Amino acid sequence: MKPSTQLKVNASTNNHQTTTKIMVSKIIEKGLNSQIVSESESSQYYLAMASWTETQGFNGVAQFLYTHSDEERIHMLKLVKYVNERGGHAVIPALKAPPIKFTSLKVVFENLLNHEIKVSQQINELVEICLREKDYTTHNFLQWYVAEQIEEEALARLIMDKIKLIGDDKGGLYLFDRDITGLSASTSEGGAEKKGGK
Ligand SMILES: [Fe+2]
Ligand SMILES: [Fe+2]
Repeated sequence: MKPSTQLKVNASTNNHQTTTKIMVSKIIEKGLNSQIVSESESSQYYLAMASWTETQGFNGVAQFLYTHSDEERIHMLKLVKYVNERGGHAVIPALKAPPIKFTSLKVVFENLLNHEIKVSQQINELVEICLREKDYTTHNFLQWYVAEQIEEEALARLIMDKIKLIGDDKGGLYLFDRDITGLSASTSEGGAEKKGGK
């Protein structure tokens, strides 16, 4: 019997119906654990970007990236809790060191956008595995990540467009650094976090 089809009856129900807990399958557990690695790496990567931009005097950008790094950690924690709640074992991974230096703000946000695109692809692959495995519960859980990726990618593209417009104009970069904290606040208040997350 595949782990996904094992039924564990919860005897402690006090309502009229018996609830059943369907354990997460090994293949889904593996996929979710890979996603834990990705979200952890995102958090570390953005933290490294935050630290570098702070040393370059871009305090607004640094604040934006510190907040983004915290959000990625929350994404990772949600996965850890989900895997364990579903009878799997969330593994906390060792991570490779993120870059120390970046050559420009443009490079920082190019990397961020490319990283988000990669994460979106991983989430989509995981969603596909859920459908193949007929794990509709995990499929439903992952919809929060699908929505979050749409927002994060859109925000990263918006920032890249602004940076391309500014080019090397120092005054433009100063204003960008000042204004990006507004984008930071709007994403943390209006993102998928608010829609379905805890
Ligand atoms: Fe994430
Ligand atoms: Fe992200």
